[in-house]
Amino acid sequence: MRVLVLTGAGVSAESGIPTFRGKDGYWRNLDPTTLATPDAFARDPQLVWDWYRERRQQIRNARPNAAHKAIAQLADHTNDFLLVTQNVDDLHRRTGLPSNKMVQIHGDIFISRCSSCDWRPELRDAETNKFRNNTGLAGARPSTASNDQKGTERGLPKCKRCNALMRPGVVWFGEQLPWNELERVKSFFDGGACDVVIVAGTTATFGYIIEWAIRGSRDGGELIEVNPEETPLSRFATQLVREPAAVALPRIVDRIIHS
Ligand code: OAD
Repeated sequence: MRVLVLTGAGVSAESGIPTFRGKDGYWRNLDPTTLATPDAFARDPQLVWDWYRERRQQIRNARPNAAHKAIAQLADHTNDFLLVTQNVDDLHRRTGLPSNKMVQIHGDIFISRCSSCDWRPELRDAETNKFRNNTGLAGARPSTASNDQKGTERGLPKCKRCNALMRPGVVWFGEQLPWNELERVKSFFDGGACDVVIVAGTTATFGYIIEWAIRGSRDGGELIEVNPEETPLSRFATQLVREPAAVALPRIVDRIIHS
């Protein structure tokens, strides 16, 4: 069985991580969608770093919920599986989902990279430790624990190579998606259409999410949307599940595995 799962912030909501566009998403009265931009970083890098550091800490304190676990279980029971998550947290990873079965299309909040030369500390680690698995933003995976250990750290981190400001390794509005992650999505599609596509916890604001969901289910596959609210994707779905992801996904996965 061939399965594609697309997730967004709603899947981590029940782990206590605020969504972007939900009512609890605001931080210090600021709209996250205006903070996650190159402009905001250029204007006030300290403010943007404070926001990301707080989020890193919040994520470290959170735990994967029943939705993350159900997705990992599905990956385990299907021979052809890919999760494409827009989430920059590591909650999918912490269920034990292998990195070759997931793509973090908007990056990884625990990565920092230089805003000028793109240097990243874990690339240095990758070279010295010979630790490289050809996944992740540029082929090297950081460890959550070793990155930015000091959650309370303040100040602006500088690049050890060129001294420019470091920035969080996430995709901001208006920026290109990471090339090698896009290639991984593309090569999954090259492998054929899916029997099932599940889209959970996303407003599907970005056209590529809708496009991938439709492309994945192109040959009569199921397209299941899990979201308490209607989204632009809803009208393409073959099944609408208007429930929280942690409630709906264990049941859906159970049905797929036993069908
Ligand atoms: P949003 O915050 O836009 O949307 C969260 C979605 O989850 C909404 O459609 C909610 O109805 C739904 N939701 C809330 N609680 C849920 C639950 N318990 N179970 C299931 N669904 C639930 O988050 P995303 O769609 O992920 O990108 O946002 C997409 C991207 O926009 C993010 O990756 C980020 C953001 O700006 C960048 O920063 C580039």
